[in-house]
Order: sequence, then structure tokens, then C-alpha cells
Amino acid sequence: MERLVFPEHFIWGSATAAYQVEGAAHEDGRGASIWDRYCAIPGNVQGGDTGDVACDHYHRFREDVALMKELGLRAYRFSISWPRVLPQGRGEVNEKGLAFYSDLVDALLEAGIEPYVTLYHWDLPQALQDEGGWANPQMPSYFLRYARLIFDRLGGRVRHFITLNEPYCAAFLGNYEGRMAPGLHDFSTAVRCAYHMYVGHGLAVRAFRESGLPGEIGITLNLMGRLPLTDSPADAQAARRADGYLNRWFADPILKGSYPQDMAELYRAQGVVLPEVEPEALRLMSQPLDFIGLNYYNDFYVRSEPSRWPLGFAIENPKNLPVTDRDWPITEAGFTDMLLRLTREYGVKKILVTENGASFHDVVGLDGQVADGARCDYLRRHIRAMHAAMAQGAPVEGYFVWSLMDNFEWACGYGSRFGVVHVDYATQKRTVKQSGRWYAELIARNAVD
Ligand code: FCB
Repeated sequence: MERLVFPEHFIWGSATAAYQVEGAAHEDGRGASIWDRYCAIPGNVQGGDTGDVACDHYHRFREDVALMKELGLRAYRFSISWPRVLPQGRGEVNEKGLAFYSDLVDALLEAGIEPYVTLYHWDLPQALQDEGGWANPQMPSYFLRYARLIFDRLGGRVRHFITLNEPYCAAFLGNYEGRMAPGLHDFSTAVRCAYHMYVGHGLAVRAFRESGLPGEIGITLNLMGRLPLTDSPADAQAARRADGYLNRWFADPILKGSYPQDMAELYRAQGVVLPEVEPEALRLMSQPLDFIGLNYYNDFYVRSEPSRWPLGFAIENPKNLPVTDRDWPITEAGFTDMLLRLTREYGVKKILVTENGASFHDVVGLDGQVADGARCDYLRRHIRAMHAAMAQGAPVEGYFVWSLMDNFEWACGYGSRFGVVHVDYATQKRTVKQSGRWYAELIARNAVD
């Protein structure tokens, strides 16, 4: 295969999120998050797993930074646990929690690894959920205060901020599909949550600009193709609705300053209560960003299913597609397409791929190695697909593999492994997988074979 070379300053990194790796859930004054509550309810998470200990990154971050350095990673994307720094979500600051992030940032900088900080990767303080969570109209201002605290304490040393991770998941999976914390099933609430997240995002971006801090700020969206299962007009329309639900409802307000009207009409016609969108709020959420973070895993196929309220579609993938152990189809051409769509349809000027990766059943062999050839293949295909988009004009400037290490994979618990480093949860031993070595070589060459 032809070797594909990347631009000289391309950023190769890895990503994690606080609740998935930190552990230390009851230490040093951390408050409870909605994920602590969600995990405590039987049936929510496979195996009854929780993030209480996770990868113990809170105590082992120096070892983990050393590992990143060994792999040659240039950047590390991690998130701040809001309840660790503000146990009640607002009010009293937990200095010990802030000290952890400050030390982590210093360790990264010392190792020559650029920190990329996500402010909100789903672990809302439970105290704020008790006040209604993201459905509460006060939430944007609470988020603003939290964001200001982080800018104030980490700004300058941290030069890359991401306001929200995957608002679709946080709002819709959490508050409508119930597959994530807080586990609600109300679509009107979910739409309201998404709106408040976006107002909060806008306030945080404006505060960052006003602070005069050096660096960049953006948002991370999970945008993935929704393709019709057959060539019937009904499936084509269903795929368009699925695209509106997952992609356009989230990309349009941020990148176009408008909500997709076809979706708004559909939702209203189905009895969904939509928030009054203030023009000022729309301007706030669509203000220019320094980059858009894209999380891409796979496309899904869609068929018309009129009985499904309020969208009338169901996910059904063709039987012959290769899949990961989550049954997610491997569809790297869709990655190229989404990067080009952001470039051409949305006019994005800078893209960071803030997550991409795959879950497979990994085992440590008798030789102590983790031979995860399937993950190497997944990553190779996707990195080549990204290069193909760049060759056609997509302004991609960085790529963060999900994940640095196996971790608490939300409702799948520890059963789903995405790391390029294996974690033995009983001993906390880290073992670099074949994919980790492969990625390190790719970074060293700045090229993919
Ligand atoms: C994304 C999440 C991330 C991780 C991957 C597999 O949706 O942002 O935390 O769980 O999926």
C-alpha cells in the first residue's frame, strides 16, 4: 500500500475522559456526579461496574504521562470532572481537585505533551441534577462559572479547550433514550437540555475570548453518517430524519446559526415541546470557534419504522459488514465523507479528530503481548481515510485515538476495551498493545502505510 505522509506539524494524540479513567471517586473532596448515581442503579451498567476505581489515573497519572511520552504522543485530551473541582456544582471550590489537574498539566508540559482539556464530558455534579440538570434554565450560567474557574486556574498553561463532548449523547442518550446518565426518557426534556448546553457553550466561548488568554477553544461533536438501508424513498427519508436527529440538530446551530426546520416541524407535529430559541442565544452558540472537534466511529444504516415515535426510523445494518465487538460496522469511507461534509457543507476551517477508535476483545497472551491486529487494521483504515479527506481539502490538523488505555466504557462497563494500552483492572498493570506500538511508529514516521 502506498505510504501516506502527513503535514509536518500534524498533532497525534490520545484521549480519555475523567469518569472513565480517574477513579478516586470518593477521595479528596470530590462530589458525586450523575454517573455515580446512574451506576448505582442495578441494570444500568453491564456487570454492575462503576467508575469508582477505573484506571486509577488520579493516582497513576505520572506513570501514564511517562507511557504517553514513551509512545511519542504529542497531545493528550482529557476532561475535567466538574464535581471534583466544584463538589456541589457551584459555590465552594475544592482546591485538592484543582491541584490534581494542575499537576497533570505540569507533568504533561514537562514531558512535551500538549494538554487538550474538555470541560464537560458527561459527569454533571449530582447536586445540579437535583436542581433539574441541564433542563434547568440556570444551567448555562452555572456552566459559565465553572468554565471561568478552569480558565482562571489552567489558562495559559492549557492552550486548547473543548467546551462540550458529544452534546448529542449527553442530551439525547441521557435524557431521552435513557442509555446514559441521568437515564431519563423524555424527549422534550432532552431537547431543552441540548439547548441549554449550547447556551452554556456560547457563554464559555465568549468568556474565554474576553479573558484574553492565549490559545484556542472549540467543541466536540459526534457526527456519523446515517445511510438508507435500501433504495426505497421511505428509507431515504428515514435516513434524512436520522441525520437530522443525530447530526444536523447539533451541527447546524453551532456552524450555521440555525436549527434544521424540517426536524423542528417534525418534532412539533409529534407533540414534542421545543424551547423558545432566543435570537441572542442563537448568535451566542454560533459565534466563531477556533476548531471543530469531530468524534467519528462508524456510520449506521437506517430503515423506515413508522411505529417509532417521534422519528419513524430504526437502525439496521446490512449483515455482511465487518464489525467491532460492539457490532459497530467498520465504515471508514464514511469518515472521509463526514470530514468533507464539515469542510464543504459547513465551511469549517479547522478540524481536530478528537476521537476515533474501536473496541475488540483483547487478551494478554502467554507471551505477555496483546496482539490486537484488528484494532491496527481499524486505525490504519481510518487514518488513511482521514488522509484521503485531507487530500481533497479537509483542514484536519490533529487526530486523537480513543483511547489511550482501556477504561470504563459507560453503560458497557469494563467489558468494552478501546485502549491502545491494555489495563488489567485487578492489578492496574498497563501493557502497550500491538496497536500502541503501531501508533507510536506511525507518529515517529508521521506517515501511515
Ligand atoms: C464516545 C465517547 C467516549 C467513549 C467512546 C467510545 O461517544 O465520547 O467517552 O466512550 O465513545
